[in-house]
Amino acid sequence: MTQNNIKPVRKAIFPVAGLGTRFLPATKAMPKEMLPINDRPLIQHVFEEARDAGIEEFIFVTGRHKNMLEEHFDYQPELEQTLQARGKDNMIAKIRNSEMPAGKLFLTRQPKPLGLGHAVWCAQKLIGDEPFAIILPDDLVNYEEGCLTQMINAYNEHGGNIVAVKDVPRAETNKYGILDINKDDGDIVSIKGLVEKPNPEDAPSTLSIIGRYILQPEVFDHLAAFETGAGNEIQLTDAMAKLLGKQAFHGLRFKGEHFDCGSRLGFIAANLAYSLKDEEIGGGVKALLDTYK
Ligand code: UTP
Repeated sequence: MTQNNIKPVRKAIFPVAGLGTRFLPATKAMPKEMLPINDRPLIQHVFEEARDAGIEEFIFVTGRHKNMLEEHFDYQPELEQTLQARGKDNMIAKIRNSEMPAGKLFLTRQPKPLGLGHAVWCAQKLIGDEPFAIILPDDLVNYEEGCLTQMINAYNEHGGNIVAVKDVPRAETNKYGILDINKDDGDIVSIKGLVEKPNPEDAPSTLSIIGRYILQPEVFDHLAAFETGAGNEIQLTDAMAKLLGKQAFHGLRFKGEHFDCGSRLGFIAANLAYSLKDEEIGGGVKALLDTYK
């Protein structure tokens, strides 16, 4: 139950305007977020996670060559009729599961990929003055209870801002946003500092942020300064850091296995994990893996 003074999280931003350069040439004309993990594209995995968490409005921050992402969620009458005529009821259920409820998809555009912070800022008018979630389609968490549901449960208890976190090897802190921890209560840590991509020797901890956030709308005041940070990009982490000390800020050690599908290795690992638990092909995938031993 949400406490009276905690506003519910109803909206989620999906930043999908990046170039996906690590997957070139596959992503030359096709958005990275359309790459499939098992039987559905990345964007559908995160849409389902948000829907299961009770999100009511889905906001895509999109860009050039990304129309396929919105089309994926359309109703496709010809396809349904063909499947019906062929008696493929299972497949009809699957494509219906990929449809966006009417009036719930909102689009805004990021004209240039100036960084995640800038992409989020582009959705400001669609968020208004309420807390919201951000989900990066690159990051998948494999667990029966979705990562965003776990975060909303934590938010309903603690309020403020919540980021999903996991421990990484110290040698890799320069790839992630890293927490400076105030108090560590196991699943929940309270945060006193945030640093984007610190060198291992400077990193205040090894707890890194993955692509799930619940933030208060005041973050937009700081994003609007358009300050550039690591990699000369407008960083979300830098704007979030400005909320510290003013608002509650927690990290949630989520349950489940995390995959960074924005890297080729993480993408293959996710495909193996998700297809191994697929009822139809899981056994076949296992047998296949055995042949490669
Ligand atoms: P990434 O940095 O992982 O995506 O951003 P990228 O830049 O597309 O990938 P590479 O590094 O070139 O391979 C994570 C998410 O944020 C979005 C991306 O689309 C991706 O879903 N993003 C990133 C934006 O929407 N705008 C940006 O300016 C940057």
